[in-house]
Amino acid sequence: MTTDITGPAPTSTLTAHEVAEDYRDRFVQRLSQNVPGRKEFVIGSASGCTVTDAEGRTYLDMTSGIGVANVGHCHPKVVAAVQEQVARYAHVNVYGRFVVPEQVEVVDRLVAAAGPPFDAAYLLSTGAEANEAALKLTRKLTGRPKFVAFERAYHGRSFGALSVSWREEWRRPFEPLLPEVEFVPYDDLAAAARAVDGRTAAVIVEPIQGEGGIRVPSDDFLPGLRRLCDDAGALLVVDEVQGGMGRSGRWFAHQHWDVRPDVITTAKATGGGLPLAAVLATAEMFATFSDPPLSHLTTMGGNPVACAAGVAAYDVIVEEGLLAHATEVGEHLRAGLRALGEQHPDLLVDVRGKGLWCAFEVSVDANPLVARMQELGVLVGSVLNQAGTVRIMPPLVITRAQVDHFLDVLATVLGESTA
Ligand SMILES: Cc1ncc(COP(=O)(O)O)c(C=O)c1O
Repeated sequence: MTTDITGPAPTSTLTAHEVAEDYRDRFVQRLSQNVPGRKEFVIGSASGCTVTDAEGRTYLDMTSGIGVANVGHCHPKVVAAVQEQVARYAHVNVYGRFVVPEQVEVVDRLVAAAGPPFDAAYLLSTGAEANEAALKLTRKLTGRPKFVAFERAYHGRSFGALSVSWREEWRRPFEPLLPEVEFVPYDDLAAAARAVDGRTAAVIVEPIQGEGGIRVPSDDFLPGLRRLCDDAGALLVVDEVQGGMGRSGRWFAHQHWDVRPDVITTAKATGGGLPLAAVLATAEMFATFSDPPLSHLTTMGGNPVACAAGVAAYDVIVEEGLLAHATEVGEHLRAGLRALGEQHPDLLVDVRGKGLWCAFEVSVDANPLVARMQELGVLVGSVLNQAGTVRIMPPLVITRAQVDHFLDVLATVLGESTA
């Protein structure tokens, strides 16, 4: 059997534009699509806070690939760690038989970031997998069937993670999902108090809602959930998939409040750009996965190359002081956004966030604004569960000058919208 591989030959005399168009067409034909329409550009390369398309146009990246490139794209220390690791070995392990030193190194760092009582992790690859494992862990530990989750929450698309994710149009076609999930309004302790009961295995909550619109809760919300869980004998799972690894100016966003969750899930930025996720809890809790042995398994979770990248990315955050930098530059960014809001009070109606996890809200359809920003060389994005929200989450290495450039471009676009 011969395989007909289409596309430009290496010796092709096609222009960069023609090559890009060819990839654009084949991408849509060959890859399962989940949004209609023409793709925006073909990725060429990325470095620090910039992305360059295949035709050589460079953009300021205010998205970090949705919170992945926290230390910037292709940080030299991450690239070196990946190259060194992949040249030694990429994957050898067979379900718990061998020791993977890179896994030990990355978990040492993650539990240090989480602080006591966290002393152990289960490594995976994606956010959905981490939440899936957290749901299984809490169900098995408590022997209870029910989960309490929040309106506008997003925890991923595998069956368990989807079951605790809010948007009904994305859940209904896949039902039956997990049977006992109760959604309550975010930041509403009274509603949570009515839902958390003796059947509840866990409350799963984003400490700041990401896809819900970068919503920062009231100061009493997370500590209040902790108390409700304690009273009901339920566990508190904090989903830090989007907000972890320094995004909010702390290692984990829940650390802005005086609250100790039972379980933390993290992914996205954890692998420095490679797929790495973790469930953080205690060794005592994880013992349940050995009873019976092999109660939870993954082949690729904690892949050594991803772990090496994660170790390098963690060390970059420490060495470059990126938590303090995210706090400081994030304040500067929000002050600039608020100033633009004062100039355009009918258009830019709200500014939210912590650290470099920010959003602003517009009173009109946000999509044309996002597209115009891109025409002017700045990548911003929307969120899944809140129309009108524009998400701003640049790499944590962004400079003030780059933030100011972003604000200048936004000022131009807002000016055009009100003209
Ligand atoms: C808070 C949160 N949890 C879980 C997920 C799912 O992560 P993944 O897409 O890696 O499965 C996301 C993805 O955006 C997220 O924002």
